[in-house]
Amino acid sequence: MKKIFFALPENEKLTLQLIQKEQGENGQVEIRKFPDGETYIRILSDVRDKEVFLVCTLHQPDNKIVPLFFLAKTAKEMGAKSVSLIAPYLAYMRQDTIFNPGEGVTSTYFASFISSFVNRLITIDPHLHRRSTLAEIYSIPTKMGHAAALISLYIKNNIKKPLLIGPDMESEQWVSEVAKNANAPYITLTKIRHGDRNVTVSIPQVEQYNNHTPVLVDDIISTGRTLIETILHLKKAGMQPPICIGVHAVFAGNAYQEILKSGAKEVITCNTIPHQSNKIDISDLLLS
Ligand code: R5P
Repeated sequence: MKKIFFALPENEKLTLQLIQKEQGENGQVEIRKFPDGETYIRILSDVRDKEVFLVCTLHQPDNKIVPLFFLAKTAKEMGAKSVSLIAPYLAYMRQDTIFNPGEGVTSTYFASFISSFVNRLITIDPHLHRRSTLAEIYSIPTKMGHAAALISLYIKNNIKKPLLIGPDMESEQWVSEVAKNANAPYITLTKIRHGDRNVTVSIPQVEQYNNHTPVLVDDIISTGRTLIETILHLKKAGMQPPICIGVHAVFAGNAYQEILKSGAKEVITCNTIPHQSNKIDISDLLLS
């Protein structure tokens, strides 16, 4: 069956990689705002009986969701055989419980909304913490790729004597895997989040590793506070400036610059979200 890929704004580079690898068609679409701020979309390619792939990574999701919804609905109206969403970064996975009275479990609401208008979801390392699979909240088939092996390979090829550090217990799952494949030791810390930009991280016990290169590995880098707190502890412990590796370059505000300013030697990410720090290509993990 013919595959046709549509890039939503900012996803053009990754979409072209996928088109090449899948020998798919480059779908043409017009997306713009009406003068009143509402969204206009128009599909300019024939999608009848084709497998449609909408490529839209979902950081800063609120402005992306309306065009995505309209495109999926329109493609189906125009006779698409199926509509899959390729969202290398999947939003709203962290509000997975009620932390304070009056809150909603928005990861569930978001999942049921996405499930209502696409047939399938393809993503990379969604933030599964209190849930173990996407199937617990998504009612459509999902496929998740894992960046761990690619991160291990990057570390093996580029970093001498690494010590992997996971900044919180949630990170244990991927830090241990990355460490195993990179033949490197690892430690995990404990973290308490007191607010959006206020976290405390336990002091790493690194005395025995002082001739290693610290490599902080996390799934999402958002405000950067988790990494910055850890970097400051490592500095006090007399460690070399760490290399930070994140899967998803969310970087809220000036987070990227702030992490570098706090003493990181380098910040490296996967290309699930386009950013100057992208050095690890995950496009193969998105192939259908
Ligand atoms: C936590 O649950 C995640 O794995 C990351 O550690 C977290 O999202 C990082 O957030 P921030 O960069 O805002 O500290």
